[in-house]
Amino acid sequence: MEHTILLVDDEPDFRETLAKRLGNAGYHVYTAATGTEAMSIFRDVSPMIVLMDVVLPDADGLMLLQQMKEEIPDTEIIMITGHGNMELAVKSFQNDATDFITKPFDRDTLNLALDRALKKTSIRRRLHKYAENKAMRDMVIKELINEDVMVIASDYRILDINEPMLEKLGITRDEAIGHFCYEITHHQDHPCSGDDHPCPLSECFKTQKPSQTTHVHLNHKNQEIYYSISCYPIFENGRVSGAIELSRDITPEINNQKNLLQQSKLASVGRLAAGVAHEINNPLTTILTTSMLIREEMKPDDPYYEDMGLITRETLRCRRIVSALLDFARQSQPVKKKHNLSHVIDEIVLLTRKQAAFKDIGVESVCSDKIPRIVMDKGQIEQALINLMLNAIEATAPGGRITVCARLSADQTHAEITIQDTGCGISKEAQDKIFDPFFTTKENGTGLGLAITSGIISQHGGRISVESLPNQGTRFAIHLPLSQDGNHAE
Ligand SMILES: Nc1ncnc2c1ncn2[C@@H]1O[C@H](COP(=O)(O)OP(=O)(O)OP(=O)(O)O)[C@@H](O)[C@H]1O
Ligand SMILES: [Mg+2]
Repeated sequence: MEHTILLVDDEPDFRETLAKRLGNAGYHVYTAATGTEAMSIFRDVSPMIVLMDVVLPDADGLMLLQQMKEEIPDTEIIMITGHGNMELAVKSFQNDATDFITKPFDRDTLNLALDRALKKTSIRRRLHKYAENKAMRDMVIKELINEDVMVIASDYRILDINEPMLEKLGITRDEAIGHFCYEITHHQDHPCSGDDHPCPLSECFKTQKPSQTTHVHLNHKNQEIYYSISCYPIFENGRVSGAIELSRDITPEINNQKNLLQQSKLASVGRLAAGVAHEINNPLTTILTTSMLIREEMKPDDPYYEDMGLITRETLRCRRIVSALLDFARQSQPVKKKHNLSHVIDEIVLLTRKQAAFKDIGVESVCSDKIPRIVMDKGQIEQALINLMLNAIEATAPGGRITVCARLSADQTHAEITIQDTGCGISKEAQDKIFDPFFTTKENGTGLGLAITSGIISQHGGRISVESLPNQGTRFAIHLPLSQDGNHAE
């Protein structure tokens, strides 16, 4: 069967090229340039998939998304935007968008989003059939291996649940069946409620229509996990007797958006910083040399002798900040060769051990000897790891401990480096900001250490993440691919 797509975008070139590409891929494509046009085609042809720009000349894409979902809830809608915008991504998902892609996107990104939409459509079709024919149940539930599924009666008791969900909850089937869903999934004695935690089930029972919401949970490592939850009513003799609840962990999609946003923020701050730092460096050097020369001419009992010293010291401090800024803004591409990661780690531990010992902090490193040599700019990776070590030392009280580990990932595609401390930890609010340039809680910090570190890691095709519990400690984890496309090692 030919799948229909409605493509809504006001840029004519982009619209035409994409429509052609989708046409070649076998889709039946309708196009619209405005919100009004889009709604009228939507009502005429009921497309299976809608690809829609968030910003349209006469309408807000999110409002259109809501309107379309209200009229035909089963439509799969993929939102398109010109820049990675975290808030829009979350809002789109909250309104049950299937996906969110950022322009410019490549063929793979688009295909992935379309595949997911088609898969969802086929699951929905089966769910509709399920509602009519209960014998389909086992098949549907078993096939939805990637989604968590529960069948829930109208009194909120669980009638059925699939294996992946049991596994995630760490309970057996007997411990789930017959119990209230809110008891099993939220450890509560009443159904979810409120704006933060709306209950999609009660909505579904009330309206007798499918409903959708997003819940944000904290996992045992204090990280935010986003769940997209959809409920589909089950009818018996014309009455809603229960619902099927599907939940999907959309955290990877959300985190992807966060990374995109961070990268674009870093790039723009980097360009700005490079310009400003260059301009400031010259006058600073003049101030520094002049104040040193004047001081040399003065006698130590001169009333301004100490003040001149102060000018020199403070100017030196400005130069340190400017030089950190220049480091941060350095647009130079890393020079990569193959290196032994455990040697790199030995070196940075050696370099920072004294500073740690001075505060009576123990440093321990454990490196697996299974890690093959990795393509990297050694100087840059050392700088990234030293930044993390210095932060850990600064955050840890005397008597504490820092552990550096490196090992090969289970699928042998990347190395995992962790730096863990027993320090003061980072609050949930601060965790969202620590990779931003200039975010610091230290009197003399520049707030550039982690911004530089995350820039270096992403230039190596890797990822950095943080887990932290206030007053218990912090753990930074780096995923570093063993080799990156386009690199000519050695
Ligand atoms: N291991 C850690 N434990 C607790 N807080 C940390 C840790 N690492 C980073 N932070 C927090 O993140 C903030 C930003 O760190 P970053 O390295 O970017 O800048 P900084 O350390 O403040 O300044 P600079 O690196 O220039 O000395 C720190 O001010 C601190 O609040
Ligand atoms: Mg730092």
